[in-house]
Amino acid sequence: MSVTVRSFAKINLGLCIGARRPDGFHDLHTVYQTIALHDIIGVQVGRGTGIEIRCEDARVPKDQTNTCYRIAERAMAALGARGRVTITIDKRLPVQGGLGAGSGNAVATLLALERALKKTLPGAERLRIASEVGSDLPLFLIGGTVLGVGRGEEVYPLPDLPPTVCVVPTPEIGVSTPKAFAEWDGSKLTADAPSDRILEFGRAVSAWLSGKPLSGVPVSKGRGRAETLLLDLVRTGIENDFEQVVFPKYPELREVKSVLERAGAIYASLSGSGSALFGLFKSGEAGERASARLRRGGVPAEVTTTMTRQQYWKKFPVSGF
Ligand code: C5P
Repeated sequence: MSVTVRSFAKINLGLCIGARRPDGFHDLHTVYQTIALHDIIGVQVGRGTGIEIRCEDARVPKDQTNTCYRIAERAMAALGARGRVTITIDKRLPVQGGLGAGSGNAVATLLALERALKKTLPGAERLRIASEVGSDLPLFLIGGTVLGVGRGEEVYPLPDLPPTVCVVPTPEIGVSTPKAFAEWDGSKLTADAPSDRILEFGRAVSAWLSGKPLSGVPVSKGRGRAETLLLDLVRTGIENDFEQVVFPKYPELREVKSVLERAGAIYASLSGSGSALFGLFKSGEAGERASARLRRGGVPAEVTTTMTRQQYWKKFPVSGF
């Protein structure tokens, strides 16, 4: 049986890097948001053994290093299933782009594989397997607006942001996440006690969720609900720490952010460690104008929308469900 699903991308509305832990990972507080840009993943289980990855994009590994391969291997073992698994990746999202494409592909593979085998893993088991493969896989088991703590793998559903127009520039630069973390460690930006910064981020998110602004932070008045939520989120200081090490290295990315801002974005930021950025806009027309401006400047950009949890799961299946 063949099952096909949409593997959506994510952006990070904010990301705060904490201390380096004994296991080499960093404590992280982040707010993930799924968006409508996606790859398409097909999973087929036939006779035989082994896992085969098919993808026309040469940049996608076809061996055991592929996140889809790694999760399929674990899922087959956990389900006690046999057969030859063929995973087809129709790649539309950038590789190494900060949009969590490889992570989303893996979670899509897991769920499609369960469906193809007509077997299901308990929710806790899915989360465990997903977090073994990578820190930003579990968010894709929730969808919508998601709080990530721990190394980013401990996830909690947040009240969804209303669907908002989102422009995603994808400059053709590959930023290595481990290198970006290493640069953060090597920079003097970590001088503030990391635990204090993480606590501050936690306070900002709680204040935002409870609708109470932090003391000293002005309340946004006379605006639409979506815009108010976003402005409050930004005013409470939820930014992406990676900008501080990635922008000095790739000044063209800072310039893309300022194009988004000049084009009227409610909020613009780097996503994850980049190189994709995003800008949130009030209307589709404003988003189209911004992306046209970026493309004229030679930067590929797409206009999409943020997705609530309900939209995410409704649009997830393509066929075989
Ligand atoms: O978990 P994931 O495979 O996405 O992580 C890739 C690399 O990014 C890790 O090997 C680690 O170097 C770095 N990382 C980190 N702290 C995190 C997440 C990732 O240092 N919270």
